[in-house]
Amino acid sequence: MGVKLDGGLVERVDGYVERLFVPRDEALAQGLADATAAGLPEIAVSPNEGKLLYLLARLCRPRRILEIGTLGGYSTTWLARALEPGGNLLTLELDPHHAEVARKNLARAGVGEVVEVRVGPAAASLRALIAAGEPPFDVVFIDADKEGYPEYLDLSLALCRPGSLILADNLIRGGAVLDGAPDGSLARGVRAFNAQLAANPRLEALVVPIFREHLDGLGIALVKG
Ligand code: SAH
Ligand code: DHB
Ligand code: MG
Repeated sequence: MGVKLDGGLVERVDGYVERLFVPRDEALAQGLADATAAGLPEIAVSPNEGKLLYLLARLCRPRRILEIGTLGGYSTTWLARALEPGGNLLTLELDPHHAEVARKNLARAGVGEVVEVRVGPAAASLRALIAAGEPPFDVVFIDADKEGYPEYLDLSLALCRPGSLILADNLIRGGAVLDGAPDGSLARGVRAFNAQLAANPRLEALVVPIFREHLDGLGIALVKG
């Protein structure tokens, strides 16, 4: 997707930061390997982005975290490690096979007891949470199907309080969000989402660059009211 970043420098800098700040973690590495062996796509956040999610969540001292899009539980593990003692994380996943792989990985990483993986279309799960009067989440991480992002933001806002943090992955997509870039409905969903993030009076937000094999972006939004 998109144009590759100038190979040398960006990858070397990303690797330099990773070697300094994100020591190899056996449970996370084995979880990624098992997810790949089980046929899951290799689209988890990078180690550096996982650490960033962890740090941002940690600043909120969260007791309740919501994730939309589990895959093999890689980002889930980073976020679960940011929970305060006694806290818990709910992660929503469409694919039962992904959920099964994730549950094993989460158990091995020692967070199986504090994470619930709920299977089903995220929009339906979110509507059910709202209807059930679920208390607000401290942190929400949106990372499922990109076409669904605009709806996930609206539904997430109904599950937030002033001070909640909303994070969202893949907001730049190798530049495909720029006008005229040829990436069809995926980029359209993300472009609409970014416009919503920027314009919603309940949010103060920004997209920060994330370096992977291409340039991507992480949305960081603080819920004001
Ligand atoms: N957060 C993960 C990556 C998630 S990849 C990580 O960084 O480790 C996106 C996931 O969203 C996939 O597992 C996919 O099956 C799931 N997904 C796709 N459409 C969905 C939907 N409508 N509802 C819930 N999950 C969905
Ligand atoms: C892709 C990457 C992601 O982080 C994701 O959540 C979905 C898809 C991708 O590279 O296709
Ligand atoms: Mg992603």
